[in-house]
Amino acid sequence: MTAPKKLFIKTYGCQMNVYDSERMAEALGGRGYVETQTPDDADMILLNTCHIREKAAEKVYSELGRFKGLKAERPDLKIGVAGCVAQAEGEEIMRRAPLVDLVVGPQSYHRLPEMEAKTRQGEKALDTDFPEEDKFEKLTSRPKAARGPTAFLTVQEGCDKFCAFCVVPYTRGAEVSRPAERILTEARDLVERGVREITLLGQNVNAYHGAGADGDWSLARLIWALNDIDGLERIRFTTSHPNDMSDDLIEAHGTCAKLMPYLHLPVQSGSDRILKRMNRSHTAESYLRLIERIRAARPDILMSGDFIVGFPEETEADFRATMDLIEEVNYGYAYSFKYSTRPGTPAAERAQVDEAEKSDRLQRLQALITRQQRAAQDAMVGRVVKVLFEKPGRFDGQMVGKSDYLHAVHVAGSGAATGDIRPVRILSSGTNSLAGEALPAA
Ligand code: 5AD
Ligand code: SF4
Repeated sequence: MTAPKKLFIKTYGCQMNVYDSERMAEALGGRGYVETQTPDDADMILLNTCHIREKAAEKVYSELGRFKGLKAERPDLKIGVAGCVAQAEGEEIMRRAPLVDLVVGPQSYHRLPEMEAKTRQGEKALDTDFPEEDKFEKLTSRPKAARGPTAFLTVQEGCDKFCAFCVVPYTRGAEVSRPAERILTEARDLVERGVREITLLGQNVNAYHGAGADGDWSLARLIWALNDIDGLERIRFTTSHPNDMSDDLIEAHGTCAKLMPYLHLPVQSGSDRILKRMNRSHTAESYLRLIERIRAARPDILMSGDFIVGFPEETEADFRATMDLIEEVNYGYAYSFKYSTRPGTPAAERAQVDEAEKSDRLQRLQALITRQQRAAQDAMVGRVVKVLFEKPGRFDGQMVGKSDYLHAVHVAGSGAATGDIRPVRILSSGTNSLAGEALPAA
C-alpha cells in the first residue's frame, strides 16, 4: 500500500462551493487522496473559487502567485483551480499562471479523477464544458463516513434570470434541477450518517422542478417528501428568487413541521426604476405583498435578504426607496454589497455611481440592518426556542448550536451532545449570538 496523497482545498464564496468542495474531496478520495488543512504538505492544492465579488480573478492570480515557492520546492505538487473563476477564465488561467496544472469548471467535477491522473502524466488538464451527464450521480460513490449534524445538499444549479449585475448565469450555466429520487436517496444517506438538518442549495432553489416518478416536482413537493424521512429534523433552503415563491411553498412554511422559520429572499433594491434596470422582473410593492403572504402563513418567520447599493444610475432617491423597503420588511438578517462591475454583464457598460457615494450608502444601509438584526435577536430573550447543538463551545461544558431561526446559541452545563435538539430558554443577547439554558427534553 502506498501512503495516501494529501489534498488541500481552499473554498471561497457560497455554500454551494462548500458542498462542491466536499464532493471533489470524495471524488479524489478514489485516487488515494485524504484532505489536509495546510498547503505546506499537500500533493495537490485546489482553489475552489468564487466570481461574485469584485476583482475575483485578480485575487485568484495573486493567491496562485503565493504557491510559486512551494511548487519550486516540490515539482510533484499539482495545483488546480475550480469554481466560477475557473469557468470564467478557462485557458487564460494556464497562460497567466503557468504553475497551474488543472482548471475545472463547476459542471465538470465528476471528471476530476481522470483529470488528476492526466496531471500525474505531466500533462495539463482543462475542462470547462457544460456536459449533459449528471455530475452528482457520478460524484456520489464514496465511503460512508460519519457526518456532523448539519449538511448542505445541492438540488438545483444555474440560473436563467440574468439579473444585469450577476455572473452566475454565465459561470454556473442554465438552470438544471436534479431528479427528486436522487436527492431523497442522498438525504437518507446523510441522515444515516448522523445528519439532522439539511439545507437544500441552489442559485435559484425555489425554481426547483426536478423529475419525479409522476412528472416534475416543485420545491414544496420535495420538502414534503423530505419531511417524511425519520431522523431528519430540520429542512432549510437557499437562495430563493421572489418570482419563484409559489403558493405551495408559501403554504409549506405554515404547515410543514420540519421546514424552519427562516427565509432568505433577496430583493436587491427598493426602487422600481432600479429593479427594472437590474432586470429583476418584480417591483418593491410585489415583493412587500409577497412577504405579507409569507408572514400570513408563518407569522414568526425570520426574513433575510441581499442588497446592492450604488447600482449604475442609482440616485439618492432610489437609495431611500431601498431604505424604506427595509424599514417596512424589518429583516432579521441581511447581506449588503456595493455594486461592482463584472465583465460581460450588461450593467458593467453603464454609468457608474461615485465610489464615495457607494460607501456612504452602504454604511447607512448596514447601520439600519444592524439595528433590525439586533432587535430581532434581542426579541428572543425570555423565549424558549429549540436548538440543534453543532459543536462544543470555547468553555468547558459549553455547547454551541443554532435555533430554528438560525441564531447562534451558546448553552453552558447542559450535558447536551452534538446532534441533540433541546428546548433552550434564551437568557441574553450578545453581538452575534444568544446565550441560554437548556430545559429538559420535551
Ligand atoms: N455587485 C455587487 N453585488 C453583487 N451580487 C451579485 N452580483 C453583484 C455585483 N456585481 C450580490 C447580490 C446577490 C449576492 C449573492 O451577491 O446581492 O444576491
Ligand atoms: Fe444572479 Fe440570483 Fe439574479 Fe440569478 S437570480 S442572475 S443567481 S442574482
